[in-house]
Amino acid sequence: MQLDVFTLVPHAFAWLTEQRPLAAVLGTELDLRLFSYRDTTPLRAGQVDDEPYGGGAGMVLRVDVVAAALDAVYGGQPDQRVVALTPQGRQLTQEVVEELAGEEKLTLLSARYEGFDERVVQHLASDAISIGPYVLSNGDLPAMVLVDAIARRLPGAIAEESGAWESFSVALEGGLEYPHYTRPADFNGWHVPEVLVSGDHGKIDAWRREQSRKRTVL
Ligand SMILES: C[S@@+](CC[C@H](N)C(=O)[O-])C[C@H]1O[C@@H](n2cnc3c(N)ncnc32)[C@H](O)[C@@H]1O
Repeated sequence: MQLDVFTLVPHAFAWLTEQRPLAAVLGTELDLRLFSYRDTTPLRAGQVDDEPYGGGAGMVLRVDVVAAALDAVYGGQPDQRVVALTPQGRQLTQEVVEELAGEEKLTLLSARYEGFDERVVQHLASDAISIGPYVLSNGDLPAMVLVDAIARRLPGAIAEESGAWESFSVALEGGLEYPHYTRPADFNGWHVPEVLVSGDHGKIDAWRREQSRKRTVL
């Protein structure tokens, strides 16, 4: 998958690219390209934001700046999905992640301050996505959330079984994951559930599904 992120701080993504499982698919299943609006802005002195028409607080990311950035990379409007990250977008769920992870090419647009000139969302983006009902200072953390969530759904990112049985997976009927335990089996009198040390995989699977259901309806 080719995943392009337009941002004002491409270097902020360095940490993410060193983390597994993303690092495991970089250069093979995932081609992550980072572009700065500043490199292609048609304005002087690297300007990318401007005051809003009608007045009011804050600065707005200009439509001509975003259009120029897309033009420089794609030679016009890209024919892939272009996601504007905004708290006003469709809320991100695992279902949306699966949908986006199925794309061959995808573009993410990050903004800051007051956000995008609305014409970016209306005319340059095909989708608007929010990572939750709260406001962050810029779209870079939301972009990283999406990049990470998508990367772990790519082939080879994580053990197939691990991905298949995660919270919100089809195997768990969209529910929450069951609890995990590791050694020691007894710590301070806190015991690991007996079924997990029984070696009976039929019973273990049934217990896990039951726990998942209980957690989901709590
Ligand atoms: C301070 S926010 C702008 C908030 C906007 N003025 C509003 O009230 O809806 C700046 C930028 O951060 C990003 N952002 C902030 N919160 C977000 C969220 N929950 N989901 C996705 N992007 C978000 C978006 O790119 C947004 O344009």
